[in-house]
Amino acid sequence: MLILKKKTAALLAECVASKFGEGLLSEEEIFAGLEYPPDSSMGDIALPCFKLSKALRRSPVDIAEQLRDAVQCEEFASVEAVKGYLNFKIDPTAFAARVVADVDRLGDKYGSPMNGEGKTVVLDYSSPNVAKPFHIGHLGTTVIGHSLKLLHEFAGYNCVGINYLGDWGTQFGKLIVAYKLWGNKETIVDGGVDELVKLYVRINNAIKDEEDASPDKHSDLADASRAEFTKLEHGDEENLALWRWFVDVSLAEYQKTYQLLGIEFDSYKGESFYTDKMPEQVNKLRDMGLLEIDDGASIVNLEKWNMPVCLILKRDGSTLYPTRDIAAAVYRQRTYNFDKAIYVTSAAQSLHFAQWFKVVELMGYDWYPGLVHVPYGTVSINGAKLATRTGNVVLLKDLFAEAISRVYDITKEKHPDPEECRAIAEKVGVGAVVFYYLSNNRMRDINFMMEDALSFDGNTGPYAQYTYARTCSVLERAGGKGRMSDAPLGEVEFELAKCISRFPERVSAAIDEYEPSLVTRYILDLAAAFNRFYHECKIVNCEDEAVRESRIALTAATNQVLRTALHLICMQSPEKI
Ligand code: ARG
Repeated sequence: MLILKKKTAALLAECVASKFGEGLLSEEEIFAGLEYPPDSSMGDIALPCFKLSKALRRSPVDIAEQLRDAVQCEEFASVEAVKGYLNFKIDPTAFAARVVADVDRLGDKYGSPMNGEGKTVVLDYSSPNVAKPFHIGHLGTTVIGHSLKLLHEFAGYNCVGINYLGDWGTQFGKLIVAYKLWGNKETIVDGGVDELVKLYVRINNAIKDEEDASPDKHSDLADASRAEFTKLEHGDEENLALWRWFVDVSLAEYQKTYQLLGIEFDSYKGESFYTDKMPEQVNKLRDMGLLEIDDGASIVNLEKWNMPVCLILKRDGSTLYPTRDIAAAVYRQRTYNFDKAIYVTSAAQSLHFAQWFKVVELMGYDWYPGLVHVPYGTVSINGAKLATRTGNVVLLKDLFAEAISRVYDITKEKHPDPEECRAIAEKVGVGAVVFYYLSNNRMRDINFMMEDALSFDGNTGPYAQYTYARTCSVLERAGGKGRMSDAPLGEVEFELAKCISRFPERVSAAIDEYEPSLVTRYILDLAAAFNRFYHECKIVNCEDEAVRESRIALTAATNQVLRTALHLICMQSPEKI
C-alpha cells in the first residue's frame, strides 16, 4: 500500500502543478495528507481536500473535482470526488499483480527500507552477568536486541552485535571465596554455571546470616570477598585463572541458549575489557572541570537536567557501571565509527542510560546523538516474582526446554522419527516463547503463560509457523509458484494482496520505533488474511486455470513474506509441523 500511496502522491503532485500552478504543494505534503479510509466502500486511499484548501486557495469541493478529472492511473478502478474528498478505489487485479511482482522481483529483500547502506549500528544486548543466573528477565534484551539487529541488517546497515558480559565486579570476590571454601572442580565441570550460581547464592546467604547475627559488625565473608576481588584487580594469578574459568563455564552455557535462538555475537568484550580504558575518560572529565567531589566520591552533577548525579568514582577510587559504559562507548565509536549505538535493557536502567548519555554529551563527543537506549518492561511467570540473590528464578534454558518438551509431546504422534520430531519441537517450542514475548509492546509488563504461548489456535508462534507450513504444502501440491493472470480477483484475494503490500511500512515502523512487536503483529495479520483466503478460495483445485495461477502466485508471495517476517523476529520457518 505504501508504494501505491507514494505513487498516488507523486501523481497528485503533478496534477496539482498542472491544474493550479507549480510550487504550491510538494509531493511530501500531499503524501502526508493521504489517508486509508476506515470503510473501504469509501475507497482504498482518500485525500481529504480541506487539508489543501489553504495552500491552493480554493474550496475542498472544487479541488476534489478538478483533481478527479486530472488523475489517471491503471491501478485505480475509480477516482471519485465526494464532498471535498478525493476517493481512490484500487483495481484489485492490477494492484495484486504489482504487489506479487514486487515480492517476486525483490525476493527475501522485499520489505526492506534499504536505507542502511554505508551506515553502522552497534547493538549491545543480552549481556548477562557471569555466574549469576541467565533468567527470564534476560529474555527481553536477548530477543528484542537480536530482532533489532536482524531488522537493521535487513535495512542494509552494517551491524555489530555486542554481548557486553557482566564479567567484572565484586561478585567475583564472593565467588572466589565461596569456591575456595566449598567448591569442587569436578562439580563445576559437570554442572556448569548452575553450580557457580549455587555457590554464589550460598555465599550471599552466608553473608546475610553473619550480618543478621551481629548487625554492628562487618561480615567476615564480605570482607574476605572484597579482599579477593582486590587481589583479582591487582592481577593475582590464581584469582585471574579462577575468574577466566568462571567466565568460560558461564559462556559455554549461554551459547547453548544462543544457539537455540540462532544468535551469534560479533563481540564478547565484557565489562572487564574496559578496565584500562576508563582512566582516560576519568581524566578528561576531570580536565574539563566536569567532576565534582561529593562526600568523597567523584560525580558529574546533572541537576540542570533534572537528574540525580552520575557516579564516576567511589570514595575508594573504584570505578562504577556508568564509568565503564562511557569508556565502552568511546571505544566502540573509535573501533566501529558507529552511526547508532543501541542498548537494550530493562526499563529499570533507563535513568542510568539517560545519565551517562548526558555525560558523554557534556564531554563534547559529537556522536552522542547516535546513542539510543531501548528499554522494555518486566516479565513474570504465572505471576511469580524474580530474585537473583536467593536463586529463586526461572532460567531461560529451563523455559525453552519446557516449551520444547511440550511441543515434542504434542507432535510425536505425527512424527514418529524422534530426531525429526525433536528438530521440529525445537523450532516450534523456542519460536512459541519468542513469539509470545514479542507480541507485546516492549514497554508492557508481561506475565508469561506457557499454555497460551504454545496453543496452536491462538495468536501464537505455533499458529504463525503452522500457517507458513500450510503455504509450503499448497505450493508443493501446486508444483510451482504460479503467475498473476488478469482474471478478476475477489475481495478475499484483494485483502490478502493489500496485507502483503503493507509489509514494507510495518518493517520501517518497527525499525524507527525499535519495536519488533510491530512485525509480530503484522505476521498475525498476514496469517489471518491468508487463512481466510485458504478457507474461502480453492487454490490448487480451482477449475479456472487463470484464477488458479493467480491464487498460487498469491500463496507464493505470502510464503516469501511470512518467511522473511518470521526471520526478523528470530523465528525459524519449518516447512512441516
Ligand atoms: N549486564 C547488565 C545487566 O545484566 C546489562 C548490561 C547492559 N549494557 C550496558 N552497556 N550497560 O543488568
